[in-house]
Amino acid sequence: MQRDVSIIPKSVHVERMEQNIDIWDFELTEEEMGQISAKDLGHSGIVDHSDPAFVKFIWQYHAE
Ligand SMILES: NC(=O)c1ccc[n+]([C@@H]2O[C@H](COP(=O)([O-])OP(=O)(O)OC[C@H]3O[C@@H](n4cnc5c(N)ncnc54)[C@H](OP(=O)(O)O)[C@@H]3O)[C@@H](O)[C@H]2O)c1
Repeated sequence: MQRDVSIIPKSVHVERMEQNIDIWDFELTEEEMGQISAKDLGHSGIVDHSDPAFVKFIWQYHAE
């Protein structure tokens, strides 16, 4: 939220769902924000959504 990036938290535990909603009374420090930014690979670790071959594959998959 501090980076204005959409977040999609998912949990099967009610107490964690509550934790994930309860985010409005604190802020992360610059150091904590830096630790999160450092995890960015700069590319998807699963698929490349800018690869025309993958886009064609997924388009055809959904069309079937
Ligand atoms: N990742 C993708 O590429 C992608 C793409 C499209 C849609 N989605 C959707 O986006 C949602 C999130 O997916 P995701 O891949 O980012 O996450 P995820 O790997 O599906 O689940 C998040 C993990 O974080 C844990 N967790 C959540 N809240 C926590 C908390 N407060 N403390 C400790 N652990 C916590 C969850 O464990 P517990 O459940 O055991 O709490 C789970 O192991 C899902 O609904 C998914 O279908 C994801």
